[in-house]
Amino acid sequence: MEPLRLAVAGVGNNISALFQGAEYYRRADAEGITEDSFPGIRLPRVAGLGVSDLRFVAAFDVHPAKVGAAFTDAVLCPPNNYPRLDVELPEVDVVVDEGMRVADSEPGSAAFDRVVERLRQSRAEVLLYSLPTGLQKTATAYARAALAAGVAAVNCTPELMARDPELLADFERAGVPLIGDDLASQFGTSVVHRALLGLLAARGITLVSSYQLNFGGNEDFRNLRDQGASKQQSKLNALAQDGVDTSRVEVIPSAGFIGQLKDNKVAVLNLEGRGWAGTPVSLDLKLKVQDSSNASGVIIDLVRIAAAALRSGIGGFCPAAAGVLKSPAGGHGAHSPEVVAASLRALDDTARPAANAHP
Ligand SMILES: NC(=O)c1ccc[n+]([C@@H]2O[C@H](COP(=O)([O-])OP(=O)(O)OC[C@H]3O[C@@H](n4cnc5c(N)ncnc54)[C@H](O)[C@@H]3O)[C@@H](O)[C@H]2O)c1
Repeated sequence: MEPLRLAVAGVGNNISALFQGAEYYRRADAEGITEDSFPGIRLPRVAGLGVSDLRFVAAFDVHPAKVGAAFTDAVLCPPNNYPRLDVELPEVDVVVDEGMRVADSEPGSAAFDRVVERLRQSRAEVLLYSLPTGLQKTATAYARAALAAGVAAVNCTPELMARDPELLADFERAGVPLIGDDLASQFGTSVVHRALLGLLAARGITLVSSYQLNFGGNEDFRNLRDQGASKQQSKLNALAQDGVDTSRVEVIPSAGFIGQLKDNKVAVLNLEGRGWAGTPVSLDLKLKVQDSSNASGVIIDLVRIAAAALRSGIGGFCPAAAGVLKSPAGGHGAHSPEVVAASLRALDDTARPAANAHP
């Protein structure tokens, strides 16, 4: 199986975790640990692709210390503060290119054309969009650039990409996958909160109120303090599944930037309910996770699904991804667990080794 040729927009903590983690698993593989026993992996293979079958072929950023730097140096460059894993990192033959900014991201602009050309020339199969939250215009521009280059797009952020009907229709017509929006972290606040709300409902407890507060010390938390609106809605979308009523739920994506937490996220969850004869039930819970590992644990699935869909000639949204997104195209109701499982099986059956979209 040909490795997946991955381009990334935004060389932040997510990419540091993804790059270092892929090397961690490569080493585990070399040490004879079988892929079924790899720790922290949901899907050992997607359409034949293992977790280390990634080749980073292009990268875009706008941070002055990252643009022009070797990719391996850029992923370790502050303000990134994902921990340095105990693995030797390879030199990757990629220099970080200047990305598109809001002011210079219209199709036809010099920056747009440069990104399209670089994607084509790198023969990328997938562009992973991993910019700070809140940049809708830039998100649309990167998606349009991926489409122009025939490259599948994966959206880590709550900005509209796969939920933009016009964009999605254009990707469908072109036979290019568009996977989004907003990754649902592997064991994040959304999945835990949703499970607890579902449990209350299943046990007949009436929800009175619930809240979720998230704290962290990485750039994402700093940004979400001011740019949290799209994330807040996306987190509510993630909770509003299986008939869960979110009208009594309060969600604060970044209740504070706390530098000493570095790339750790702390979430505080509270649920108040009424049980038999209206008597109170109360649950308080604290969750602590390595925030960007939590993202990479699902990014690895999303990019492999995108590559497999591209190799299978499937354009637009691929239901196989719905379970690990907060706000999938069409909403969660459109993608039952059975539909998701069938879509994954179909990818396994049909994905061909990378002939690659580009001649
Ligand atoms: N658990 C998680 O970490 C998690 C979960 C869900 C979604 N997300 C989302 O993923 C996204 C990325 O997270 P992160 O922790 O890697 O963020 P980060 O802030 O560490 O990295 C963002 C990178 O994008 C770069 N950038 C900014 N503007 C750019 C532009 N115009 N073009 C190219 N690059 C640009 C920044 O310089 C930085 O290197 C965020 O939107 C976050 O909300 C993260």
